[in-house]
Amino acid sequence: MRQAFRASVFHCLADPGPQAERSAVEFYEDGLLVVEDGVFTQIGPADKLLASLPKDAQVEDLSGTLIIPGLIDCHVHFSQLDIIASYGEQLLDWLNRYAYPAEARFADADHAHEVAGFFLDELLKNGTTTAMVFATVFPRSVDAIFEAAEKRNMRLIAGKVLMDKMCPDELSDDAESAYGDSKALIERWHDKGRLGYAITPRFALTSSEEQLEAAGRLAEEYPDTWVHTHLAENQEEVDQIANQFAWSRSYLDVYDRFGLLRDRSMFAHCLYLDAVDRALMAKKGGAGAFCPTSNLFLGSGLFDLDSMADAGVRVGLATDVGGGTSLSLLKTMSEAYKVLHLQGQSLPASRALYLATLGAAEALGLDDRIGSFAAGKEADFVVLDAGGSSMTARRAQATTSLDELLFSLIFLGDDRNIAATYLQGQRAKV
Ligand code: GUN
Ligand code: ZN
Repeated sequence: MRQAFRASVFHCLADPGPQAERSAVEFYEDGLLVVEDGVFTQIGPADKLLASLPKDAQVEDLSGTLIIPGLIDCHVHFSQLDIIASYGEQLLDWLNRYAYPAEARFADADHAHEVAGFFLDELLKNGTTTAMVFATVFPRSVDAIFEAAEKRNMRLIAGKVLMDKMCPDELSDDAESAYGDSKALIERWHDKGRLGYAITPRFALTSSEEQLEAAGRLAEEYPDTWVHTHLAENQEEVDQIANQFAWSRSYLDVYDRFGLLRDRSMFAHCLYLDAVDRALMAKKGGAGAFCPTSNLFLGSGLFDLDSMADAGVRVGLATDVGGGTSLSLLKTMSEAYKVLHLQGQSLPASRALYLATLGAAEALGLDDRIGSFAAGKEADFVVLDAGGSSMTARRAQATTSLDELLFSLIFLGDDRNIAATYLQGQRAKV
């Protein structure tokens, strides 16, 4: 089946960097995207490409909108949806007061299914087509999120949370069940269609050394699965890690010693790293998830994008709901801008979009499949409409450049501006 979509089209070819390099992006004011059997085959100016399309191609006219690649959320907890925006605590107290009680409810498989469906529909409404998701300690919560993603044809990476100490009893597994349950879930879900499995130790504070060792064994036995965890988010957390793992050089060193720092490792937060950590991450292939709404909301700290990028560490943007306060990656980009601005760093609109599209795909090791309109990639894309709200419409009228328009949509846009989300060329029903 051949389809074509006519609109303004924008995507990144590489990291535009803090100077918004023009050569890193491609834009056609009146553009055409050609899709065949769910993958992109061509991008270019509409007048030229329309003339060469075969007669049976279905052309959808979306003129007046802007098509960008599907957005990618590199770190989010579906089990924390109902405690988003909970008052008053920093990380460790927030976990005990809000996150753990919310996750305990996922012992009930019906609850897990209900939340999973709602959560993925919200992602699609916000233009998110791929996400890397923490489930809970209960294997059936992993089945719930994968089943819901499969039904919607979303690209999703998820895993069972591993935690066997310093957490409520009802949320505790052990090293052996963590290994066995994860292995069974990998066999059931990894590489099934658009789904991928992530070995998911919650963070080094809630796993015994025996459990971290079991996670490392899985990471070695299944090298094309992902590893997904939290790293150096909060100063008190970092201090406790230094106490508990007195032998370690740093927090990252703990994960590294257990074989959890490798290609396809995703570390959420990465706020309290030093140059040695960053160099090691770059060398071993681990990536960082930049979670600005969460870092501000939980009072955790400021992500240092320039240092990560200069060290050669791949970085993707992430909402981290429910520590994060919005599932919208547009909102997340606007908060990322502020976090960097506070540190004298720049985030032009094109780079913000890169962090949630091609950059995120690179961070996940999926840039051969998603993240841009390059020929052969899966046709996941978002139709942005500046007319979605009166304010964005008004601001768009006053813009004089593409960068200005994109920047205004990042700051003022929300799900009203996501006119449609497409998965492999098919419009998602939400
Ligand atoms: N560190 C360990 N668990 C969590 C969590 O659920 N959310 C956040 N933001 N940080 C964590
Ligand atoms: Zn998190």
